[in-house]
Amino acid sequence: MDLKTMRSLDIKGKKVLVRVDFNVPLDDDGRVADDTRIKATLPTIKYLVDQGARVILMSHLGRPKGKVVEKLRLDDVARRLGELLGREIKKVDDCIGSEAAKAVEGLKQGEILLLENLRFHPEEEKNESGFAKELASLAEVYINDAFGTAHRAHASTAGVANYLPAAAGLLMEKEIKVLGSILSDPDHPFLAVLGGAKVSDKIGVLNSLVGKVDAILLGGGMANTFLKAKGSELGDSLVDDDNLDFARKFLDMAAERGVRVELPVDLVTASSGDQDPVQVVDSGSVPSGWRALDIGPRTADLYSQLIKKAKTAFWNGPMGVFEEEQFAHGSEMVARALSEPGLTSIVGGGDSLAVLEKYGLAGQVTHASTGGGASLEFLEGRELPGVAVLMK
Ligand code: 3PG
Repeated sequence: MDLKTMRSLDIKGKKVLVRVDFNVPLDDDGRVADDTRIKATLPTIKYLVDQGARVILMSHLGRPKGKVVEKLRLDDVARRLGELLGREIKKVDDCIGSEAAKAVEGLKQGEILLLENLRFHPEEEKNESGFAKELASLAEVYINDAFGTAHRAHASTAGVANYLPAAAGLLMEKEIKVLGSILSDPDHPFLAVLGGAKVSDKIGVLNSLVGKVDAILLGGGMANTFLKAKGSELGDSLVDDDNLDFARKFLDMAAERGVRVELPVDLVTASSGDQDPVQVVDSGSVPSGWRALDIGPRTADLYSQLIKKAKTAFWNGPMGVFEEEQFAHGSEMVARALSEPGLTSIVGGGDSLAVLEKYGLAGQVTHASTGGGASLEFLEGRELPGVAVLMK
């Protein structure tokens, strides 16, 4: 089945309801701290404006749990979007009701309106049909460009498509195309580099990718669990004891299939009470009272060499506590190797993208996905509710 794309719909002059993912980090003053997701939707918005559509944008921000939370209003997002587009963005304080309807009626061709945070209404996450219908009643066409939220079956990501002609925006189309290509026809060697704190977040993608990749390089807190499953001494490091059994079985399964699973050979550790002093130790021998907080320099070198020899690589999850300089080296080396030319590199997840940003490498990888959870679920081979409703 093919994705229905917005170019296949007649949207000239129409009222178009667009689900975007403007769930962006805010700073302490409530201002947009990272506008990557806003920038990623600009091609879709510009296309609609050029077609003379009346553009009605809707998004969630944070997790207000069905109530109005003042600091999660979308006003600063509207301000930033306006700056990026160099045009006025109208904004209303609700996403349904008379105020929203009136604002839509007042829209002229090519004008843009941003509705208020969808998750101020509990019906959004419950995918209530009455709420979906109310949203749909604002427009004549529905476009979903929110790949980052496509793994949620909410009223604005799935329900609305029951009431309006629906299609994917340009960002959604690109994400599905790029991520789909590494599942269906990746150039080999194909590596997955997986990090982050928890094994439980990555079980699905490990099980799926083991059938596709040539090697899996593990780092971050989750690597500790695999190291412990192989009998390593991890001191006071974070270990997910509930998943030791999974880790053992996974390592056996990968070996049977001939897939290399690389684990850290050394680790940067800090004493538990105080993160200074820092020591590099062999991964089998973290002393009691010490915690592993990054892959060690030998591991970083090894991973970097393996990535540079690959043709395709997918990365999700940092190699250590990269926010602190002394534990950032592993993630930096991985990010630099993925940014080399000649490699198809796909990066997903907010933390991995933050590493790329930190070293000015965001534009150097082949594709920086706007979806963290969504890209993992897609690569797990799961159907994303927000994508399923856009199929022909
Ligand atoms: C994300 O940032 O992963 C998406 O915007 C989805 O947000 P959620 O995890 O709160 O549903």
